[in-house]
Order: sequence, then structure tokens, then C-alpha cells
Amino acid sequence: MTMTVRQHEYLKLLGIDVWVSRDRDALLAETGGVDTTTVGMNTVPDSDWTGLREQVAACTNCPLHHGRTMTVFGSGSETADWMVIGEAPGAEEDRQGEPFVGRAGQLLTSMLKAMGIQRQQVYIANIIKCRPPANRDPAAEEVAACESYLQQQIAHVRPRIILALGRVAAQNLLKVDTPIGRLRGQCFEYAELQIPVVVTYHPAYLLRSPKEKRKAWDDLQVATNLYAGLPA
Ligand code: URA
Repeated sequence: MTMTVRQHEYLKLLGIDVWVSRDRDALLAETGGVDTTTVGMNTVPDSDWTGLREQVAACTNCPLHHGRTMTVFGSGSETADWMVIGEAPGAEEDRQGEPFVGRAGQLLTSMLKAMGIQRQQVYIANIIKCRPPANRDPAAEEVAACESYLQQQIAHVRPRIILALGRVAAQNLLKVDTPIGRLRGQCFEYAELQIPVVVTYHPAYLLRSPKEKRKAWDDLQVATNLYAGLPA
């Protein structure tokens, strides 16, 4: 099967070795590799956003606030077409107050880049805003205490498509308990606002299980194709 330049670049960014002929190498060198397709951006400010940020920063709705250094609200374009939703802040995110700034975040940035999307163009948020101790899975009560923040973020950003990273994000967004292996690579819907949702593996999992990166690539292609086919 012939591999496109973007496919090749994606696999390279993810650290998957790919055999290429010399001609192909020359082509990649010429094109610079990454497809520079970009997604649309709007610019509609909303003062409610600041209020929501402040509310999250002061939140004491669940016991996780005792152990946090900073809340992690979210980052990126408030009017993005793409929203990426992860699980919860890790150690580095808790220190910096920004989502996906650790090793998993670097891989996420590469995954987006391979899709032709700059990180600043998407909006990135998590299911919960405070780091659970020792990065354990968020408890159901913690997710419930944080849920309305994410709902408001999604309603404000109104993305055209959501990429859910990992089991915790997928199951909580879709309100299912289906294993991630059966959720990934398909199109679901965020029911509240009828926004398409594609699920893939969490980048932290991909760092631990690099063989699964090829499946993640398939999922990202599903998401990219779905986005391309959305009505204007
Ligand atoms: N993992 C997540 O799910 N979210 C982050 O922000 C960082 C790591």
C-alpha cells in the first residue's frame, strides 16, 4: 500500500520506523514532510469565560482541591473547531496550570501536527481540573463535581468535533462503560450538543505501549476524514 507524505510523517513523529525508498526520502525532504492543512478559526469573545475560569480556580467542590498546586482549566482557541479532551492533570500540569505539558503532551502536540493542526488552534481540556493523587483514575464523585465545568467549556467553544483521549475521557463524555478498544476509531456523538466525538488512545498509554500507535493513527485519520466531511 502506498503511504502518503502525511502518513509517513505521522508515523515518524510517533517514533514508528517506516521503510522508505530513496525516492520517497527525497520527496519528504522536498515537501518538508508535514501537510500544512489548517482548520478554521473564529473569534467571538465572551466574558462568561473569565467568570468560569475564576470559578474553577477557586473550586472546592471535591477533596482534590486539598492536594492541588494549580487548577488546570484548559488551553487553546476558545473558538476552535477541534476540542481535545483528556482525563486529568498530571504532575507537570498541576505545577504549570496548563493541560498536556508533560511527555504525553509532547506526543499529543506531535499527533496534532501530523494531522495538520497546530496545538494553539484546538481547545484542550480535561474531564477533571485537579490532579488526583499519584495520577490515579478520577473517582466518580470527582468527575461529577467537575462535570458542569467541562459542559460549560464545550458549550462555549462549540467545537465542530471532539477528540476524546483515553478510556476515562471517552466513557465520561459518552456516558458509557464500553472498553476503549470498542470505542476507538468510531464516530459517536456528544449528546447534549450533537457534536461528533472520535475516541483514540491516551498519549500516556501510547508512550507505554508504542505498538498501539498505529491504531491511534487509524483513529486520527477517522477523525480527520470525519471533520473534512462535516457540512460547512
Ligand atoms: N493527561 C491528561 O489526561 N491530561 C493532561 O492534562 C495531562 C496528562
